[in-house]
Amino acid sequence: MIAENFSLKQYNTFGIDAMAQYFSTFNSIERLEELLEFKKPVTSYAVDTPFILGGGSNILLTKNIEGLVLKNEIKGIEKISEDSDAVYVKAGAGENWHQLVMYCIHNNLAGIENLSLIPGNVGASPMQNIGAYGVELKDVFHELEAFHLTEKKAVQFGLSDCEFGYRESVFKRKLKNQFVITSVTYRLNKTPHFNTSYGAIEQELHAMGIQTLSIQAVSQAVINIRRSKLPDPAVIGNAGSFFKNPEINQQHFDLLKKAFPNVVGYALKNGNVKLAAGWLIEQCGWKGYRRGDAGCHEKQALVLVNYGEAKGNEILRLSDEIIASVHKKFEVELEREVNVIE
Ligand code: FAD
Ligand code: EPU
Repeated sequence: MIAENFSLKQYNTFGIDAMAQYFSTFNSIERLEELLEFKKPVTSYAVDTPFILGGGSNILLTKNIEGLVLKNEIKGIEKISEDSDAVYVKAGAGENWHQLVMYCIHNNLAGIENLSLIPGNVGASPMQNIGAYGVELKDVFHELEAFHLTEKKAVQFGLSDCEFGYRESVFKRKLKNQFVITSVTYRLNKTPHFNTSYGAIEQELHAMGIQTLSIQAVSQAVINIRRSKLPDPAVIGNAGSFFKNPEINQQHFDLLKKAFPNVVGYALKNGNVKLAAGWLIEQCGWKGYRRGDAGCHEKQALVLVNYGEAKGNEILRLSDEIIASVHKKFEVELEREVNVIE
């Protein structure tokens, strides 16, 4: 079934009311192949590159989408093999990410507990190499299967093929819009290597009264911190951090530090410094700013929000203004993390 003029409001966590000209879901590669044959009625125009949708938690829709939107609902989670240290778990792209984290925790499989409660689906996890609390997807990634939209064939990608970086992968860059990721296989550890040094995890574990570390406890600590810091999309529309944290060289950081002694930066292994974009944005006076229904969250300046009926373009314009003011004050370029669909 292919729906026509279908509202995507319930299908993006910003809650933007944009339409898909055509919309359908697929739960198998066979069904995807059938949908790729779809021809727009009357004209002979074939929609050869549909827009692939997961949980819609990292997109900003700025207009109606012409052509076909296909929501990936390929399901299934299975242990496919194991060695002395690790278990390999393969998940369908349409599985909810947090459900996969919970599956691993219940099965005592370690490695993704710090990535608890990130919204969205398995299929998008490699897209921007999701990360939080000192762990990135690439740390547990084994391989993925993807289907080429025009050549209509399945291709396997290993770790180096994906060109993972900070909120980056080959799928966001040179292979953009060419593949549908259909499944991802993760390498989970039988024995946990706890990573609790990041942010407030230690503090939260202490507040929880945890004496003995476990992946369950770390997951719960991350969940508690995230709930206290980030707006819930079910209450206020948002797509998490709207911008990436920018990287600058040490010389630039020294100059900033002189002018702004409180600037927040973290030293990187490559000698550069990663700045907290939330701090830069807050210093420019945007935190809590609201124009119509578009705004900058009052507790977390890195998160842009839709209070109800904002248009994607209103949020995009606000993000342009934020980029310009951060540039003017700090000579730092902010880059959007969210995928803007124009
Ligand atoms: P979508 O938004 O549906 O899609 C994102 C992009 O990937 C689109 O370009 C889409 O076309 C493409 N895509 C989706 N699925 C596929 C597929 N199967 N094959 C090919 N292309 C595909 N991200 C983090 O990294 N760390 C965080 O801590 C974090 N916290 C967040 C907190 C909140 C409250 C919110 C709302 C978002 C947060 N995010 C975070 C961003 C988001 O959750 C992730 O980027 C997530 O992986 C997006 O998944 P999705 O299924 O919703 O992708
Ligand atoms: N800060 C401010 N004002 C603000 C917000 C932040 O000054 O309004 C400063 C504070 O000093 C704070 C620091 O920025 O200590 C860092 O803030 P926080 O710990 O909230 O993390 P973040 O840099 O805002 C990043 C990721 C998140 C991820 C968390 C935890 C990016 C772009 N964002 O946020 O990822 O969950 O760290 O690891 O890297 C996402 O990608 O969507 C996302 C939510």
